[in-house]
Order: sequence, then structure tokens, then C-alpha cells
Amino acid sequence: MSLIEKAVERLGQLKQAGQDAPVITPAPAPAPAQAAVVDAVASVERSRVEIHAPEAEPVSRAVYIDLERLAHMGFVTPDQQRTSISEEYRVIKRPLLRNASSMRGTSRVTQGNLIMVTSALPGEGKSFTALNLAMSMAMELDHSVLLVDADVSKPSILKQMGLPPERGLMDVLVDGTLDLPDVILRTNIEKLRILPAGTATQRATELLASEGMNRLLDEMASRYPDRIIVFDSPPLLVTTESRVLATHMGQIVVVVEAERTTHAALKQALATIEACPIKMMLLNKSSVQGPGGYYGYGYGYGHEPEDDKAA
Ligand SMILES: Nc1ncnc2c1ncn2[C@@H]1O[C@H](COP(=O)(O)OP(=O)(O)O)[C@@H](O)[C@H]1O
Ligand SMILES: [Mg+2]
Repeated sequence: MSLIEKAVERLGQLKQAGQDAPVITPAPAPAPAQAAVVDAVASVERSRVEIHAPEAEPVSRAVYIDLERLAHMGFVTPDQQRTSISEEYRVIKRPLLRNASSMRGTSRVTQGNLIMVTSALPGEGKSFTALNLAMSMAMELDHSVLLVDADVSKPSILKQMGLPPERGLMDVLVDGTLDLPDVILRTNIEKLRILPAGTATQRATELLASEGMNRLLDEMASRYPDRIIVFDSPPLLVTTESRVLATHMGQIVVVVEAERTTHAALKQALATIEACPIKMMLLNKSSVQGPGGYYGYGYGYGHEPEDDKAA
């Protein structure tokens, strides 16, 4: 049985399992005690911080994420530790973090800290997953996270967070005088940084596949070796951008929308990223009728068997 067939078979099992997934109740409003903390960091720092030591944290300025808003929208946030969504992402991130820091043979999983979130088609929950994963990982004591919006033609990370567009990835690729630290944003979550998609350009696809992008990815992996870098990315079957990005990734999370993505589409999508050593599937939006009459979401996780992974 080929890897893809095994993966598809596994997905079938996950879909079945998804039927029994618990219903997630809407996240409760954060405790009022959090409001004081939020106020204290509410001012957006606009000035650039000059960094002199080459190994200093290469980040320029900060943005404020309204965590209460995100929690209401059903996202993982640091002050919502016990919600179902937080619990689910606790489980989902575990194997990814293990791979990011684990040794295979004598060497580390190659660029295991570069994790791409993708899917076959638009709307399956890539951005939702990427933000939740990054949030959940940033809540770990020993992990700093950089969330990269690499879906440059349909950027949504800043929008999801209620923030206006900013310079980002595209600007660094277009403007030779800009460097990553000029555009990476600090946030009011200490361990979470954001690299926005940046200014829209007609050359987005070409730039993502460019030699400059290759260098940037290598730079990210080597400059921030202890940092987990989560890439929100375009759908695999609509453009070729994700396929190119995938060749640089240590791990790929393939979001599969329950009851929507067909086996044929998934098979085709997986075939485009065959070269990545570690691929995991995440069954998203698996709906089950909850006791209150609303629909919740469940997740399943599948990954290729150990002996199919590259050594
Ligand atoms: N598990 C989920 N629970 C609730 N809403 C979800 C879930 N997954 C995705 N969504 C919502 O579905 C829509 C599409 O998701 P999005 O992440 O933007 O898709 P993509 O990035 O793959 O195009 C968004 O409104 C998102 O908030
Ligand atoms: Mg998206």
C-alpha cells in the first residue's frame, strides 16, 4: 500500500472517530481580573527598537492582540487554559513539538522547527489552525513561536487578530534594504512573534518561489533555531506556492475539512508534498450534534507510519 493510500485509509478511520468527537462549547468570557493586564499593555509601541548586539532579539516593535475578542471567536488564548479548544490543541501540538526538538539518528530532524499548515482547498481551516497552534505553542515555557503569514495572496493572520495590515514577508522580498527584524512584530503574548504577509504584489507567487525566499527560509531556520516557526500557507490544489514552500519544511500539517474534502482531493494534495519527511493530518470541523442543538468541532490526527518517514 502506498503512503498516500495508507494516509487516506487513516483519514477514513479518523473521520469515523470524528463522529464521536466531543462537542466544543463556546469559550466562556475571560475573567474580569484579566482586564487590568490587558490595559497595561494596550499601548501600541510604534518606535523601532535599535538592536546593536548581533545576537540580540531581532524584533522591531509590538502590536496589541485583543485576547478577549479572540477567545470570544473560539481561539486558543493564554487566559483560557481549560477550554476544549485549548485542550485539543494541547494534544495536537505535542507530536509537532516533539519532532521539532527530537533527534533522529545523530542529527536533528532537518528544519523540524519549520512547520507549515496547509490543506487541499481554501476555507478548510488553515489560518484558524495556524493561529491556534502558534498560540498554544507560545504558551509553553520553553518555546518561542514565530507565526508567518505565507498565504500572501489571501493574508488573514492579522485580520483574524483584528489588526490592520502591516509590512511583512513580501516587503522583505521586494525591498533589499529591509531585513526580517524590520517587519517581525512582537505581541502582548511574550513568546509569540508575527511575520505578516506584507504589501500585496502581483508577483507574490513568483516571489514565494524565488531564490530570495529560499535564502529567507534558511535564514529563519538558522537565525532562530530554538524558535518554532509556523507558516500559514495557501491551499495546495489552487496555487503552486505551497508546494514550493513545502520543500523547505521539516513538518507539514494538512488540515482536512470533515465531510467536505474528498479522498481524491486529499490524495492529490498529499502527492504534491510527498518529499516532506513528516506530514500530519488534522481533521477539522468534524461536526456532531451537541446536546444544546448546536454544532461543535472535533479534531483527529493522523501521520504516516514510522517506517515511511525519511531517515
Ligand atoms: N475548528 C473550527 N472551529 C470553528 N471555526 C472554524 C474552525 N476551522 C475553521 N473555522 C472557520 O472557518 C472559516 C475558514 O477557516 P480559515 O482558517 O480562514 O480557512 P483557510 O485558511 O483554510 O482558508 C473561518 O471563518 C474560520 O474561523
Ligand atoms: Mg487562510
